[in-house]
Amino acid sequence: MKKTSSAVLPVIAVNRNSARPLHNQIYDAYRALIVDGNLRPGQQLPSTRALTSELNVSRIPVLTAYAQLLAEGYCETRVGAGTFVSRSLPDQMLPTKRSTGLRTPIRSGSRSIARRAQVLPQYKAEPGLRGLGPFCVGQPAYDQFPFSIWANLVARYCRNPRPGALHYGGPLGFEGLRDAICTYLRTARLVRCDPEQVLIVSGSQQALEISTRVLLDPGDWAWVEEPGYWLTRQVVTAAGGKLAPVPVDDEGLNVAIGIKRCRKARVAYITPSHQYPRGATMSASRRLQLLEWADRAGSWIVEDDYDSEYRYGSMPIASLQGIDRGARVIYIGTFSKTMFPALRLGYVVVPLDLVDRFAAVRNAMDLGPPYFPQAVLADFINDGHFARHTRRMRLLYNERRIALVDGLRKEFGAYVNVLGAEAGMHLVVTFSKVFRDVEVAERAAHEKLWLVPLSSSYVGPDPVQGFILGFGGAAVADTPHAVRQLKRVLMN
Ligand SMILES: Cc1ncc(COP(=O)(O)O)c(C=O)c1O
Repeated sequence: MKKTSSAVLPVIAVNRNSARPLHNQIYDAYRALIVDGNLRPGQQLPSTRALTSELNVSRIPVLTAYAQLLAEGYCETRVGAGTFVSRSLPDQMLPTKRSTGLRTPIRSGSRSIARRAQVLPQYKAEPGLRGLGPFCVGQPAYDQFPFSIWANLVARYCRNPRPGALHYGGPLGFEGLRDAICTYLRTARLVRCDPEQVLIVSGSQQALEISTRVLLDPGDWAWVEEPGYWLTRQVVTAAGGKLAPVPVDDEGLNVAIGIKRCRKARVAYITPSHQYPRGATMSASRRLQLLEWADRAGSWIVEDDYDSEYRYGSMPIASLQGIDRGARVIYIGTFSKTMFPALRLGYVVVPLDLVDRFAAVRNAMDLGPPYFPQAVLADFINDGHFARHTRRMRLLYNERRIALVDGLRKEFGAYVNVLGAEAGMHLVVTFSKVFRDVEVAERAAHEKLWLVPLSSSYVGPDPVQGFILGFGGAAVADTPHAVRQLKRVLMN
């Protein structure tokens, strides 16, 4: 097959009725694109043949325009490669400011946007989410992931895909992956499910979003854990729901308080296996109480089971969904911790009567998940790599967790209180010292130490001050130094 140019054809208009010759029009258009910075140094121009055909003109004016651009130094040729915008444009030819659509001055009239787009605070990366490092929450051990195996599986699918795989795949996702997840969940989490109840989603975040769109009307109340996962609250708020914060203690969500304060909530969002962020496991009696409330009130429970693959010392806890006899639980899981967050793959197990509703919402959103990562992940699970990798990581994270707890005790002694270190990839620390965690996190960020303030997990007016510290991403040998750095920033 003939090699074709990789250059993008810019939009230029030529007017055959104009008195200005065609080659001048083409030259002017290219010169303007270069001077305005819309074509950047090093960027390839289309071949004269391609441009001739695109503009539907004869080749002569195109050749003449290119010759002039070359002669004046706007362009250069590379043997065998084509024509490019000069890498060494003189200063006077360079744009003063890169002109892009984004910088177009805003002069139009009213620019009102939907109220629902304004209920969230403007997006701003929290200090603890700006970079990787010792305490980064949700950072697995990237250097331990078996990328050579992954790459082989990717090649298996991408080299010669069948046409059906390249077409639209349906809102529930790839059947092979739904099967694999189902098998895994039935065994490892005692989830009661069939593949037709499983939806593949772009991480738990999308699962929370779809569940909320299906279950919650604007103005409806939703129980959220206090403290709890800030992104769950954002989803509820964005949907126009009202937050009913329900306190969490060592037995998980305090259901009795929830019922007392807001019996009629439509949905309860909870993390019963490993409460985020404090780490409690919901007790059996609270689980039963919660299910009974949901049955009586006709409410729904969204179970976010985001990291239960990692438990140290005790057996994994069965899912709440597995003991639900009223089909009230929507069960959510993710591969962000077990694989890596950029994979953006998770799943929802939906009560059978709601599957079509979930599918319709997903379809309207983006028609469904991309095929290749799903197919590769299905093989990764079915070939045993997933189980092997999570087993290895459980051992590794256990060592990292112990190193962090030991380091904290050594540096802070009786001043530190460690919570929720028995599972997952993070723990919580509070200190018997008065400080504002948000300010400490800002100070720490200047030293590239990324701390997540505990107070950001609260809705109410009196948040506990402390930090959520991830331990998945830091080698044991690096932990003592990181803890000393934390101490220095905190004591300053
Ligand atoms: C409570 C909770 N849910 C879900 C997630 C994972 O989100 P996602 O699957 O969208 O990456 C996290 C990540 O830290 C979390 O803490």
